[in-house]
Formats: sequence, C-alpha cells, structure tokens
Amino acid sequence: MTPFPAFIPVPGRVVLRPLTDTDVDDLLSIFGDPEVVRYWSGSPWSGREEARRMLGADREAYAAGAAVRLGVTLCDEDRVVGTVSLFNRSEPNRRAEIGYALARSVWGRGLMHETLVQWLGWAFGPLGLHRLEADVDPANMASRRSLERLGFRQEGLLRERWIVGGAVADTVFYGLLAQEWRAGTQR
Ligand SMILES: CC(C)(COP(=O)(O)OP(=O)(O)OC[C@H]1O[C@@H](n2cnc3c(N)ncnc32)[C@H](O)[C@@H]1OP(=O)(O)O)[C@@H](O)C(=O)NCCC(=O)NCCS
Repeated sequence: MTPFPAFIPVPGRVVLRPLTDTDVDDLLSIFGDPEVVRYWSGSPWSGREEARRMLGADREAYAAGAAVRLGVTLCDEDRVVGTVSLFNRSEPNRRAEIGYALARSVWGRGLMHETLVQWLGWAFGPLGLHRLEADVDPANMASRRSLERLGFRQEGLLRERWIVGGAVADTVFYGLLAQEWRAGTQR
C-alpha cells in the first residue's frame, strides 16, 4: 500500500503538513465558525475537546490506512488556516472521498484551488487512486465551483441525505477519474 504523505509542500503560498495537538486552537477557530460549517456534516464546535477528538479519530483512521487529513498553513506563518482530507478510502477500488475547509479569514484568495491541485496530483499520482468523490450541499456554491474548476463532474442528486442540527439537506455527488484529471485543462 502506498503510504499517506507526511508533508506536501504546495508551490506558492501554502504548505500542507500533519496536524498536532498544538493546532487545537487554530482548528477550533475554523470548525467553531458557524459560517465555515454551514454546509458541513456537523454542527460548529463549542470547545477544544472536539478538536482533540477529531485529532484522535484522525490518528486511528490514518493508522488503518482509511483516511488522512493535513493542515493547510501559510508559507510565512506556521498557523493552520484550513484542512484537506481523503477519507472513505477503498483500496481495492482505488477510490476515496475528499474534504476541505478554510478559515473564513482566508476565503476568496484562491488558496483552496492551489491546495487541491497539489492534493489531487498526489492522490492520482503517488497514491495511485482511480477515482475521487465529493459530497456537497447543493447550496455550497464556493465548494461546487472549486470542484468544477478542477474537472469534477456532477454525477447525481441524493435527496435529504443529511440531517444536521435538525436541518435536512440534499447532496450533490461529484466524481473525478484519474484519466480525466490527467487530460484536464482546468488547471
Ligand atoms: C469551499 C472553500 C474551501 C473554497 O475556498 P476559497 O479558496 O475561499 O474559494 P473561493 O472564494 O476562491 O471560491 C472558489 C470559486 O467559487 C466561486 N464562488 C465563491 N462563492 C460563490 C457563490 N456564493 N456563488 C457562486 N460562486 C461562488 C468563486 O468565484 C471561485 O470561482 P473561480 O474559481 O471561478 O474564481 C471555502 O469556501 C470554505 O472553506 N468553505 C467552508 C467549508 C466547506 O464548505 N467545505 C466544503 C465542504 S463540501
């Protein structure tokens, strides 16, 4: 099995690196923001304990080869301003799902596009995935546009798939194949 990465330098403005317990406050400021998790699969965090729980669950999933999450940091300051992940990995089918989020303070600068170009390059390159998937709230236009710019295609609408804090939401399911990524001109 190709190991998950420990560190991916992204040419340009950001560096991807493993998350540690010292990142708890940065993670809380991202996932405790109701605007960031507006279309997420969970409610905003209310304390550091939720960040610690996520880091613990991440360590277990990573050890099992099922998932990896890295922190997105700016080149000139080692502060976590976002995360990218691969999860629901199926090794026999060479597919996984991607997840990503940025702190609201750095939205609108194209940082996630730069990050995902490298993340997908690694997933379809050294990791050898054949297919990537993404599950998005139809109203999450910034996320949908980010995926479409990378070449993801909308494959279906899954009705009332999520109930978060009592609110019911549909899913737009996106997919991208390795050969489409290699042939892509979107980047
Ligand atoms: C999704 C997210 C990572 C995008 O990060 P970003 O780097 O700030 O993205 P941008 O603001 O540059 O927007 C990406 C694209 O969407 C477009 N966009 C942004 N908001 C939009 C809106 N409300 N309607 C239509 N298009 C929109 C931008 O114009 C841009 O298009 P372009 O690539 O053609 O220039 C960020 O919005 C985020 O962290 N959201 C909260 C977490 C989240 O929802 N994650 C995804 C879960 S599936």
